Amino acid sequence: MTQKISLTRYLVEQQRDHGHIPSQLRLLLEVVARCCKTISHAVNKGDLGEVMGSAESENVQGEVQKKLDIIANDVLIEANEWGGHLAAMASEEMEGIHVVPNRYPQGEYLLLFDPLDGSSNIDINVSIGTIFSVLKKPDGDAGVSEKDFLQKGSNQVAAGYCVYGPQTTLVLTVGDGVAMFTLDREQGSFVLTDENVCIPEDTKEFAINMSNMRHWDEPVKRYIDECLAGKTGVRKKDFNMRWIASMVAEVHRILSRGGIFMYPWDKREPEKPGKLRLMYEANPMSWLIEQAGGVATNGKMRILDIQPKTLHERVSVILGAKNEVERLTSYHT
Ligand code: AHG
Ligand code: MN
Ligand code: MN
Repeated sequence: MTQKISLTRYLVEQQRDHGHIPSQLRLLLEVVARCCKTISHAVNKGDLGEVMGSAESENVQGEVQKKLDIIANDVLIEANEWGGHLAAMASEEMEGIHVVPNRYPQGEYLLLFDPLDGSSNIDINVSIGTIFSVLKKPDGDAGVSEKDFLQKGSNQVAAGYCVYGPQTTLVLTVGDGVAMFTLDREQGSFVLTDENVCIPEDTKEFAINMSNMRHWDEPVKRYIDECLAGKTGVRKKDFNMRWIASMVAEVHRILSRGGIFMYPWDKREPEKPGKLRLMYEANPMSWLIEQAGGVATNGKMRILDIQPKTLHERVSVILGAKNEVERLTSYHT
């Protein structure tokens, strides 16, 4: 029988053999994984638990919060406060940063998360997830402030997500490729099920919310028109389309079988650079995509090279198969 490799063993071996994971970071990743297990159990309860429906409150971006948005946020905050691995946390669901209370030791890492991605899918039993990104607190000041978080995505030291779908799968990078771990509910642990994830350079599958078509910019219109023209058009092949409305589930599909995902800037709210959030959605997903051989841009530049100005900054996102993302990016120039 082939031996199962748990997330714990994977992290220990990465630390020992490659020196990628200092012990504070290993603890941090173990704690995040434990939170994902807890959130997964809450998600699975559905109508049997007090987890469904609206919380009747709004987050800082004016979005109505679901009960699970708040439950997932609380789980991540509480579990990560006391271990001594973190200096502070930032979340889609909190306006400011959450500094580790001074009754606990302060660590050297910063954790950012979208506690529950794909909130509109919670109540209809469709895949949702948790996205996280880890930065190192810059050396220097004793305290920690929002400014410490405003680092380019290329500074991330770990990033990942957990998708709560037919299976619960944790997907992780520490800068040495992408590994996937499936939750074994009998054992209560994440087990390595895929390593060296690789996105094919070409694809026939795209993901975009087509209902926004009339608001798109010219390059995006052109790209999608060419896909829709199929075999008889310039692309000379038929395309297929998917839209789950959970970025986590779309990225998981792309890491599993390829494709391109777009949530571009559009004319609905022209002052907003996009819908998705740079620091806790686009950056971690872009790093995972790059680590699997794909590309992620905002149409003009690599997402990981964008210097954030604010914590909840939004960004236009095009990511996935190398040749497709490069084609659409070239239409912007
Ligand atoms: P969240 O639930 O964290 O607010 O994120 C939802 C995001 C993303 O996951 C998804 O790709 C997109 O919003 C869906 O937006 P539309 O409903 O506009 O298609
Ligand atoms: Mn989200
Ligand atoms: Mn969310």
